[in-house]
Amino acid sequence: MSIKNICCIGAGYVGGPTMAIIAQQCPHIKVTVVDLNEKRIADWNDDNLDNLPVFEPGLDAIVKEARGRNLFFSTEVDKAIDEAEMIFISVNTPTKTYGKGKGMAADLKYIELCARQIARVSKQNKIVVEKSTLPVRTASAIKSILDHTGNDVKFEILSNPEFLAEGTAVTDLLKPDRVLIGGDTTPEGDMAAKALVDIYANWVPKERILTTNVWSSELSKLTANAFLAQRVSSINAMSEICEETGADVNEVSKAIGMDSRIGSKFLKASVGFGGSCFQKDIFNLVYIAKSYGLNEVADYWEQVILMNEYQKERFTNKLITTLYNTVSDKKITFFGWAFKKDTNDTRESAAIKVADNLLNEQAKISVYDPKVKVNQIYADLDYLKTRTSAENKALLTVESDPYVACENSHSIAILTEWDEFKTYDWQKIYDHMLKPAVVFDGRSLLERKKLEEIGFIYYSIGSGITGN
Ligand code: NAD
Ligand code: UGA
Repeated sequence: MSIKNICCIGAGYVGGPTMAIIAQQCPHIKVTVVDLNEKRIADWNDDNLDNLPVFEPGLDAIVKEARGRNLFFSTEVDKAIDEAEMIFISVNTPTKTYGKGKGMAADLKYIELCARQIARVSKQNKIVVEKSTLPVRTASAIKSILDHTGNDVKFEILSNPEFLAEGTAVTDLLKPDRVLIGGDTTPEGDMAAKALVDIYANWVPKERILTTNVWSSELSKLTANAFLAQRVSSINAMSEICEETGADVNEVSKAIGMDSRIGSKFLKASVGFGGSCFQKDIFNLVYIAKSYGLNEVADYWEQVILMNEYQKERFTNKLITTLYNTVSDKKITFFGWAFKKDTNDTRESAAIKVADNLLNEQAKISVYDPKVKVNQIYADLDYLKTRTSAENKALLTVESDPYVACENSHSIAILTEWDEFKTYDWQKIYDHMLKPAVVFDGRSLLERKKLEEIGFIYYSIGSGITGN
């Protein structure tokens, strides 16, 4: 079966970039990305590519090449479903904030709505692809909804989890380590999986396209994120031991990373991992384990989250202690608000938690981030409901010039590892700060020697503070 029309429901961080690449690599396939969010679709269609809703290096050029040719962004969900032979579901699957499983389980209401809509609209057989990250065995729920509420058409469900990381989405999609496709082990399931394999085979070497059963595919996605997050929590746990003992976490990372069994990636100590997925996917895994009565397994994975929360608290506490145990009315500058460099995404960013802690201590915060918009920063704080919106606005300001953000500041906290921070004139920054001027580097991004020579007191995660 050869696919000519694809519909993707959900024009977010995954749906947008993933479909842009499919459209670019497969000019013979019409790809329509739909979303209920009209503003998002309007932004994807904006002539000014700076306004695309997702910032990813290289994405604008790809959208420019394919948009209007065989890549379309639309709010006409029914029409796109009707026309497509293959439908990707790429909607959000956040942690539940209500009812059973609150704070742990994945909220599948958006997935179910999609399934019901596909069932209602479809008049011909379709392949439905789970692109969203889902609890293991969700495919059977989708299948049941489609079969019970559909118009007697046949649906094949595939699991095709996405492994892209934000900030490197374009390269991850163009050169994936692997593409994973889970399908039913029936002749129809095999045919559906083959149709999807054929799409990826337009640019991904066949040996990198892995086919499994549906449950293995769904679980592999949660497992991959759990393992990645676990590495960050592991090195973050070591960062505190390093600070206590005089070891340097970067040297430890290098030393262990050269062991080919361990590998060098994902060993960078930080103020804590963020992003929309690590925490939610681990909670999801913990919930699944608990629901099977596997309490020890659940506890094991939950510890990865607890360690991450601890790291954010530890960073804030260290900053407060260093500033003579009070930050009340002191100006603290944040360099970075995004959860990692090269993205405008702030979901679960460590900066939000650190800011919340410091604002509770009545600090005055000035934020500079090269890509995050002002409104997003206030929205992130307002969402916490710790303070009123007016209080947040009174205590925190957002600057578009990093040097202005540092003027008369007691301390700079580096929360995101943006490359440009390394290139700043740190002498000039020092000259305009109050003394002692303290840099709190939550990403161990800067050169200790250089900063100390200028006169800064410098703390870096995993290698401690000047003078210790
Ligand atoms: P997102 O919130 O950026 O985008 C989801 C979009 O779906 C939103 O624009 C929302 O309006 C839309 N939507 C929700 N319900 C809809 C409906 N019924 N009809 C039409 N549109 C609807 O989310 P995301 O970051 O793209 O993540 C999507 C999924 O992919 C999640 O399951 C996530 O775990 C997974 N994932 C995300 C990443 C990542 O880097 N963000 C990477 C791999 C996997
Ligand atoms: C992560 C995974 O890397 C992707 O494979 C996956 O598809 C995605 O989650 C998802 O399912 O959403 P992402 O969250 O975009 O991607 O970014 P990562 O590069 O994994 O970084 C996550 C967080 O961990 C960031 O806050 C980052 O700064 C932090 N991190 C990462 C560290 O603190 N140290 C490291 O060594 C690596």
